[in-house]
Amino acid sequence: MVNLVKASFLALSLFLVACAAPSKAPQSLYDEIGGAPTIEAITENFINEVSFNETIYRYFEKTNITRFREKFNEHLCVTTGGPCTYTGDTMLRVHQGKNINEADFNTTVDLLVNAMEKAGLTYPQQNQVLKVLAPMRDEMLYK
Ligand code: HEM
Repeated sequence: MVNLVKASFLALSLFLVACAAPSKAPQSLYDEIGGAPTIEAITENFINEVSFNETIYRYFEKTNITRFREKFNEHLCVTTGGPCTYTGDTMLRVHQGKNINEADFNTTVDLLVNAMEKAGLTYPQQNQVLKVLAPMRDEMLYK
């Protein structure tokens, strides 16, 4: 009887310890950086950075900035693993006909890095975003 009580107590203790242990569910980068407000800050900073760069701004002269803001936000949200749906066009379609060269592509990435830096992302967090975007490069260059 005593053994049974001891065993029950042990089982209960193990159960309580298991419940109290921190959850190991991996957090998305989206949550880690602060979710929607941070994503919106990056987009806003990026638009600002582009507007101050003569070379890159030239590409955006005829762009509907309200649409760009909305679609870029969604895209960044998905890129960071957030709970969004991207409703814009494919990267190929959007950048087609612009004949974007490597130098301008790299400059744009630098502007995005500045935008992320100003929104408070750490270097590892910035790199995580760039790593997801890197494979899309071929859809944008010289199209
Ligand atoms: C770093 C990777 C890039 C990403 C993730 C990206 C993403 C996007 C997104 C999500 C849109 C909006 C799509 C839509 O309206 O359906 C867009 C539009 C646009 N992007 Fe990019 N982009 C990138 C690089 C570039 C580069 C390097 C340039 C030019 C130097 C560029 C120029 C543009 C322009 C001009 C538009 C507006 C298109 C229009 O007015 O119809 N993007 N981009």
